Amino acid sequence: MITAVPERGPQHVPGRLLPSQAMSWRNGVRGEGASSVAQILTEPVSAQNVWTGDELSGAGRWIIRFTEEDLADFERALAHVPKEHVRDVTQIRAEDFPLPHFRERIADIVDRLEHGLGFVLLRGLPIYDRFSEDEATVIYWGIGRHMGNLVPQNRKGDLIGHIRDLGRRGPYERAYATNEDLGFHTDSTDFVGLMCLRPALHGGESFVASSGLLYNFVVREHPEYLPILSKNFPTDWRSEEPPGSPGWYLEPLYSYFGGALSATVRTGRAMSAMRFPDVPRLTADEVSCFMYFESLPKRPGVALGMQLQTGDLQFVSNFVTVHTRTAFVDDAADPARQRHLLRLWISRPEGGRPLCPEYAAWRSGYPT
Ligand SMILES: [Fe+2]
Repeated sequence: MITAVPERGPQHVPGRLLPSQAMSWRNGVRGEGASSVAQILTEPVSAQNVWTGDELSGAGRWIIRFTEEDLADFERALAHVPKEHVRDVTQIRAEDFPLPHFRERIADIVDRLEHGLGFVLLRGLPIYDRFSEDEATVIYWGIGRHMGNLVPQNRKGDLIGHIRDLGRRGPYERAYATNEDLGFHTDSTDFVGLMCLRPALHGGESFVASSGLLYNFVVREHPEYLPILSKNFPTDWRSEEPPGSPGWYLEPLYSYFGGALSATVRTGRAMSAMRFPDVPRLTADEVSCFMYFESLPKRPGVALGMQLQTGDLQFVSNFVTVHTRTAFVDDAADPARQRHLLRLWISRPEGGRPLCPEYAAWRSGYPT
């Protein structure tokens, strides 16, 4: 069943923007036209991307192992790549890295992300044994280019993100470049990829959970929270706002759009957006909703854990899953035991999931 969003009082940031409130960086809104958050799904969602970690933990159907044929395809494609592009892989287009065999596997990977479980793990690229770190990076980039557009992951415009512990950060900055537990969240744009060059000495375990499953918990246990989950909340840019922005933008946690339920979970950013004087205080109900919601993927059996090893490539669909990684400890004396992952943000503007304007705006990544 679908219901219209109820009208809200003036103390709330409206969940449905009036045309007069549309859209500029100045009022924090991305995209064009009024907010699409006009409907709320009030019954459980049923899809292949609704699963529990318990169901999948012993199954292994989310793991794809590289075959000798795959690796031979990569070797042939690498021979096409000029040396200068090995050092700057961002110049490489899909046609520069032909994968006549592996492209069928890529079609399967994209299908699993868009219509299946919403995540996949490619296991065991022989980095260091058969491919150098630079060559593995080209292979990873090439796979990503065949999957979609690779878009900026931050204000600096990075197309490949280095995920490693760079030490302490400011209170309102992104946490991926630390060794901290991140809390369940989504990245932006359609898919995020992580390739593991090296795991940590201890910790750094990756967890993925179905955001559809979390929604179903709310439907059954706290349906009164559904309007909150669908509300357009001021969301902290974490110091990466574009010029003219007030430092926050509007985005709902869940959106039912085009017959599909999608999510972007950034409760921490909605909380920290209150540092801006022009952002209304969260109500007690909203804070309760966030605390309850943040507890859901931590319930036993809900999330699926996996330890990424050297040569593992994980891809997740941000709009149907949430993810996190646990805190980790590197070996300060041994660079081979210092966690280092490479991240890609992959957008699927063509043929991808139907998205409300707030979410679809992320298909171009961070504004740079
Ligand atoms: Fe993330």
